[in-house]
Amino acid sequence: MSAPSKTFYIETFGCQMNAHDSEKVIGTLEHEGYTRVEDEEAAGLILYNTCSIRDKAEQKVFHRLNEYKRMQGEGKQFAVLGCVAQQEGNKIFERAPYVSLVSGSASYRNLPAMLDRLEQGETRITGLDDHRTQDETFDTEFTTRSNPHRGYITIIEGCDKFCSYCVVPYTRGKERSRASDSIMTEAQRMAAQGYTDIQLLGQNVNSYRDPLGKQTFAQVLRSIGQLSGVRRVRFTTSHPRDFTPDIVQVIDELPTVCDHVHLPVQSGSSAVLKAMQREYTREWYLERIAWIKSAKRDISMTTDIIVGFPGETEDDFEQTMTMLDEVGYDAVYAFQYSQRPNTPAVGMPDTVPDEVKSARLQRLMDAQRERQRLSYERHLGQVMDVMVEGYNRQRGQVTGRSSQNKTVNFTTAQPILPALGSYLNVRVTRTFPNSLVGEAVQAG
Ligand code: 5AD
Ligand code: SF4
Repeated sequence: MSAPSKTFYIETFGCQMNAHDSEKVIGTLEHEGYTRVEDEEAAGLILYNTCSIRDKAEQKVFHRLNEYKRMQGEGKQFAVLGCVAQQEGNKIFERAPYVSLVSGSASYRNLPAMLDRLEQGETRITGLDDHRTQDETFDTEFTTRSNPHRGYITIIEGCDKFCSYCVVPYTRGKERSRASDSIMTEAQRMAAQGYTDIQLLGQNVNSYRDPLGKQTFAQVLRSIGQLSGVRRVRFTTSHPRDFTPDIVQVIDELPTVCDHVHLPVQSGSSAVLKAMQREYTREWYLERIAWIKSAKRDISMTTDIIVGFPGETEDDFEQTMTMLDEVGYDAVYAFQYSQRPNTPAVGMPDTVPDEVKSARLQRLMDAQRERQRLSYERHLGQVMDVMVEGYNRQRGQVTGRSSQNKTVNFTTAQPILPALGSYLNVRVTRTFPNSLVGEAVQAG
């Protein structure tokens, strides 16, 4: 039995940029007359939005593509999108001949044309960035967001930083910012639709340069934070190189701009940072942290760290460990270095054995967990504004999120559960290393 052709199923891996790209792809497909189904068996078109940040993520893609193999011959078509698509290009057709479309994120604006070709039965359609023509962004009003209360807006695509370990400049193309007018139109539309929590996205979100020359990144934060109906503006990911004091000022000024900065450090050793081509030193990074700490608000800081980069000595790693105390992060996302194709670090001998990498990762995570246990205790007794995100009926708790992006599980005295997307004041009664527990307090 052949599946109806104008139905699709989409699977998404990777970062928030990828998650939001999929929302735009879904909106585009729906506008082209396709219907989304939740069961891959029922879909005529299966799309797979992929990630290649580390080798494991990429292996998963080929494993999954092999699973698709058994579904071929049922009149189904397959499309591979995202970072593995851009990275591997035509090679995907060799490894998985049943795939008909391969497109990187920098080509999604051509999706309607690619879909037409797919409908006409073409089998080797590619949308691959040639790194020459990329001054355009994928702005579309056809976005099907998965959550009706919190939503993403991409303000800058691609990356020009070329850190020596990273695939992103190759998979997402050149850095290109979206016009501030277009951003504001989308934000206003979202606010009118009832979105109260808007998250600005970019690989390096604070590297934003308005092509219209009207607004700086901090001004975009302010403009959106001042829109009627908007209660929270978040932004991720910030790059230390482009982090400026006016970002801290706007957080201090406007309660709607969330008190959280995700600022990946990657390593606490200036020697390793140099080899990573991060273009800053430990001291330079700590100066930005000092700006954040000098704010009137308690701004939560989180980071990404890579352990076991080629050449990382025990002493280098110790310097990374000392960052945990010097900064006081509320979350650390730590990864073992993974060699990626085409990146400059491929030429560096991978000197750190796997066992050492995993032992360092474990030490880092254990140390951070203990620090988080202590640092989350600062919230004990505080009353915080929490957005309701779900319910844990088993435990009789409501789950939500604070402005600092912390998970808060709480109970209410009311017989009726608060609505999803509503905001409540919650008093924190217990703390854990990764979440807070509390009870809703009566307003007024
Ligand atoms: N190996 C391990 N981790 C990596 N990251 C990026 N590239 C690699 C790699 N080759 C991590 C960085 C980045 C996060 C999204 O993933 O810490 O900030
Ligand atoms: Fe993965 Fe990086 Fe691509 Fe996001 S940009 S999907 S993290 S490779």
